[in-house]
Formats: sequence, structure tokens, C-alpha cells
Amino acid sequence: MDVLIIGGGIIGSSIAFELTKRGASVVVIERGAPAQEASSAAAGMLGAHSEFSTDHPLIPLALKSQAIFPDVLAELYELTHIVVHWNETGMLKLATTMEEYEKLTEHYEFWRRIQPTHVRWLTADEVAQIEPHVRNEYGAMYTIDQQVDAEQLSLAFARAAMAKGAKFLSYTEAYDFIVEHERVVGVKTTNGSLYAEHIIIACGAWTPMLAEKLRLSLHMYPVKGECVSVMTETPLLQATVFAKNGCYIVPKANNRLVIGASAIAHSFAKNVQTCSIHQLLTRATQIVPAIAHCTFEKTWAGIRPQTKDGVPYIGAHPQYANVFIVTGHYRNGILLSAITGRCVSDMLEGKEVPFDMTPFSPTRKGEGHALHH
Ligand code: FAD
Ligand code: GLY
Repeated sequence: MDVLIIGGGIIGSSIAFELTKRGASVVVIERGAPAQEASSAAAGMLGAHSEFSTDHPLIPLALKSQAIFPDVLAELYELTHIVVHWNETGMLKLATTMEEYEKLTEHYEFWRRIQPTHVRWLTADEVAQIEPHVRNEYGAMYTIDQQVDAEQLSLAFARAAMAKGAKFLSYTEAYDFIVEHERVVGVKTTNGSLYAEHIIIACGAWTPMLAEKLRLSLHMYPVKGECVSVMTETPLLQATVFAKNGCYIVPKANNRLVIGASAIAHSFAKNVQTCSIHQLLTRATQIVPAIAHCTFEKTWAGIRPQTKDGVPYIGAHPQYANVFIVTGHYRNGILLSAITGRCVSDMLEGKEVPFDMTPFSPTRKGEGHALHH
């Protein structure tokens, strides 16, 4: 095969989709089933404007990814007939305290400078008119950010890749690499050895364990996120509401509201703590009091892959040029999925990538990496 991708989350699946479209022969190995980890836990916000409030090397990629989503979804539908719940009813970023309000106005000024057509300041009265269930005294930043069902999207990428010829080997765990003459030629898995020209490690928060096998210490850590969902009798919100204190409420199909999320660093445990759900519901009902009368649906947790410098790794291993590390998308892996697939495919094909990818190099200085011998 041309490319072996380790990890069947949204990042591995999106890369598989893009590469198979370009004619590559691709195998994805996944230790469980596709889209079972962070990619199915995500709230699905394509929050380019809501997640970034200061300069960041990801912003050009995030904006482009957001812009291509409608076309990507149409393409995925054509290949899979999976209807991915998606809407562009936008987002209200709001403050619940004076301190948050001050930060929010800086956030708004930042985007007003960069993309004034995509953000708007709303007074508290305007917020009340647009979203009558939202309690708000400071006004809000409205952004055009879209949102999707993250699990459906992840599965659609995987199925579309399969439709284009990719093979997915589920319940197959990679545990080491086969190195011959200073080149990685294959991967040892629980279902035998597999050989490929190129290998992509896209194992989300678990990537450092495999990278270590190639003597690469990635400066990464897991960040657990817990969520709760409720059902409403009638729709309570049109737009996503995202408070500056980190609590968001995302309206989904069939009158579901997803309320997220905690951020517990250094935890791989997917248990859901009562105190987290208590805090989420307290914050959510402060913003939308009617949530107190909704029907509880479920809780869940996922593990976000974070890097120490907050910038993902997208690039070749410093010693083995045919091995790519693609991870560390932290809070924005759903948003960045579409563009990551394209950029990695360009890199593999030796094409010029239309973005500056140097900040994402696994060989970057500082918190980037350490190669030990
Ligand atoms: P994962 O989805 O974790 O996939 C990695 C895969 O690799 C897993 O399936 C795993 O089983 C597999 N794997 C690991 N080790 C091996 C091995 N040795 N062999 C084989 N397979 C292996 N992002 C957004 O853009 N918008 C949001 O609104 C959003 N909300 C979020 C809310 C929560 C609560 C959480 C937890 C995350 C959220 N995110 C959001 C972030 C997003 O979910 C992640 O950035 C993204 O899913 C990362 O995708 P991934 O494919 O890298 O990782
Ligand atoms: N982007 C939302 C989260 O990671 O919780």
C-alpha cells in the first residue's frame, strides 16, 4: 500500500478520504472502531472565531476549513448518503461577569480587525430579541461559526474514504514499527505486520506512546472533556451559545442541547464526574434558565490531544521522512479536520501547501520535540 494511517478518528479518516480521492492506496488501522474517541465526544462547533481570540498560526487553516465545510459535506453525502447534521445559525459568545465582558470585548476587537464581515456586536436587547431564552446583561459577540454532528462527520469521512477504496482495519492496534536500513517500512499490529511507503501516526492523545517507539518524545498531554445533553419540548436556541467562562450550549437535531465541556488536564480516564456535570448545568442554567426543566439525556467524556505550546504537530518525523505525525488539534479537531486532510495530502505528494506549515513541524524548537538516541 502507499499509505498506512494509524488512528481512525476524524483526523486519520479525513486524511484517508483526501488521499484516496487523489488515487493513493490507503489502509487505516484503528485499535477500536472508527470515531470512538475524542471525535465522537466533540460538540461539533466549527468555531474559528469563537475559539481563537489572539494571533495563532492555526487561524488561516481554521478559516479555510470553515469555509470549505459546505462543499466537503456535499461531497461526503454524495459518496456515503450520510446526512451530517450541520447548521450555520451562528454563535453568540457572551459574558456572565464584568471580567468576562472585558475579555470578550478584546476578543471582539481582535476579530473586528481581522474579519469584520464575520462578527457583529449585539446589545443585550438585540440578544433578547434573537434568542429570547438567553439571559444576558452585557451584550454578545455574534459570529458566523457553523456547527456539525461530530460523530456523523467522522463516520462520513471514514465511509467516504472506504467508498474511494480505503481499507479500515478495526480492532487492530499498532504497537511498534519495522525499521530496515534506517527507514520505517512497516508497522507491527495486533493482527500482524503491515508494510507501506508512508506511515501517518494520527492517534490523537495516544500519539506520544507510538512516537516514543521511534525515539521521538512529543510534548503532549491529554485533556479530558465532559459533556451532558438534554432534550427540550420545543427548540430553545437557534444559535450556539458560548460563554466566556467556557460553558457552551449547542442546539442539535431533534431538540437536543449539548452542554460542554470540562477541561481536565493529564487525564486519560473517561469517567464522568458528578462535580463537572453539576458545574456545567449550573453555568448553563445561568445562561438559559429553561434548561432546568429539560429532560436529561446522557453524559460522556472524550480525551482532547493537546501540545505544550498549543500548536498541533503536522509534519514529518525528524529522522524518518516517510513517517508523519498529525495530532494535537486539542479543542479544534472537528473544525480543522477538512483542511488537515488536504494539507497532509499535499505534504505527502510533495506539493506546495497553501499555508505556512513551519509552526506545526514536529522538529520545531522550544516545546516542539526531543529526539533521543
Ligand atoms: P481521536 O478522535 O481521539 O482519534 C484517535 C484514534 O486513534 C482513536 O480512535 C484511537 O482509538 C486510535 N488509536 C490510538 N492509539 C492507537 C494505536 N496504537 N493503534 C491503532 N489505533 C490507535 N473540536 C472541534 O473542532 N469542535 C468542537 O466543538 C469540539 N468539542 C469537543 C468537545 C469535547 C468534550 C472534546 C473531548 C473534544 C472536542 N473537540 C472539538 C476536539 C476534537 O474532538 C478533537 O480535536 C479531535 O476529535 C481529535 O481527533 P483525532 O482523530 O486526532 O483523535
Ligand atoms: N471546542 C470545544 C471543546 O473542546 O470543548
